[in-house]
Amino acid sequence: MKVLVLGSGGREHALVWKLAQSPSVSRLWCAPGNAGTAMEHAASGAPVVNVPVASDDIPALLEFARREKPDLTVVGPDNPLALGVVDRFMEAGMVVWGPNQRAAQFESSKAFSQDFMERHGIPTARGGTFSDAAGAIAFCRELGGRCAVKADGLALGKGVLLCHDVSAAEAAVQEILVQRTFGGAGSRIVVQELLVGMEISLHALCDGKEALLFPTAQDHKRALDGDHGLNTGGMGTYCPTPFLSEAGLHDVGRAILDPWIAGCAKEGIDFRGILYPGVMLTASGPRVLEFNARFGDPEAQVYLARLEDDLAGLLLASAQGRLAGRKLRWKPGPAVCVVMASAGYPGSSPKGLPIDGLDAAARMPGVKVFHGGTALRDGQVVTNGGRVLGVTATGTDMADARAKAYEAVRVIRFEGAQWRTDIGSKALAVG
Ligand code: AMP
Ligand code: GLY
Repeated sequence: MKVLVLGSGGREHALVWKLAQSPSVSRLWCAPGNAGTAMEHAASGAPVVNVPVASDDIPALLEFARREKPDLTVVGPDNPLALGVVDRFMEAGMVVWGPNQRAAQFESSKAFSQDFMERHGIPTARGGTFSDAAGAIAFCRELGGRCAVKADGLALGKGVLLCHDVSAAEAAVQEILVQRTFGGAGSRIVVQELLVGMEISLHALCDGKEALLFPTAQDHKRALDGDHGLNTGGMGTYCPTPFLSEAGLHDVGRAILDPWIAGCAKEGIDFRGILYPGVMLTASGPRVLEFNARFGDPEAQVYLARLEDDLAGLLLASAQGRLAGRKLRWKPGPAVCVVMASAGYPGSSPKGLPIDGLDAAARMPGVKVFHGGTALRDGQVVTNGGRVLGVTATGTDMADARAKAYEAVRVIRFEGAQWRTDIGSKALAVG
């Protein structure tokens, strides 16, 4: 089977790495990919080939796919999904994994998701959707100013402002809805009550009818240790978390997924791909903060490091509505991913700096270094973006996996590298 993966981050390197292990995959392309994807080989021995086409350039992707005829196209990032890449590939008669444009609205429109959750009784924050500032501000006041103000559309993970008083909430509404700091993404907003609790990531693989729940993972969204600093795309993850027992995960999963599946069926939404609810475990139960319609990055790195099953088979079954009766199998030990980012991230960061120590890290048992923002220049791996590497390790327990990941981080060098030193510490604190 020939497989094309769209995207260029750590998530896509993890997808390529796992797909490359599949005996059924003979050829792999990644558009546009990174230095890490270009260094993988399919089980057939064929090197993975990076295709110099952006993951949201749908006409160019279609042209490539018509020429090379992949048997499966796997969509990594949210943007092409929101642009309808899945619909266009299906119209062209190709098999493609990921939700169609309508189903991808769970991520591309927070207002759509908030209204859907309310219509179908999915546990979420008390909230409302607004396109007028006066209505939004009145609702913020009703919440005592303690609220999350969110741009409706995709805003590179930055469109959420957390407020603790009325004046901050009013300023947030002004910023997103009136001044349009996030452009058209802010022509509507969602205002939610501010929830307190432990935040976890859920993932479920869906085929339009079934939703297979993954173990829990936890991201670390702030740039600095102790959850300080600016919000980022994610500075590290681990899986599983100790915050839900297996029975607890089952209950939480069903409380969210059963009404979600029923709601999709009722509204004729055919969701095939990963549903990734961000969930707050509050004192009064789990609450969905938002839905994403793809693998998390860096959640994918820890999930795929632990997945036992053949990924190509699973994604094909998901795309073709054949997940019924399947069960996911996971390696018993946990996985930890520590993101090494460029100086300046999440602000602008330099590119083209040489990265050393990757070979030494690759030799460490249980370690896999996934590339995010990297490129190859004259055979040398160089930095090419904010989140450069996702240094991932599996171990016998959390302490072991974490120690291995940080040991590998210590042998990798590039100028200005920054990383959090406390990935997984919340899990260790629970014991
Ligand atoms: P979102 O993109 O909606 O997940 O929001 C980004 C981050 O903001 C989340 O990961 C949470 O940490 C935080 N957040 C979002 N909504 C809420 C809420 N209602 N209460 C508290 N924190 C929130
Ligand atoms: N890990 C956060 C995200 O992928 O949205």
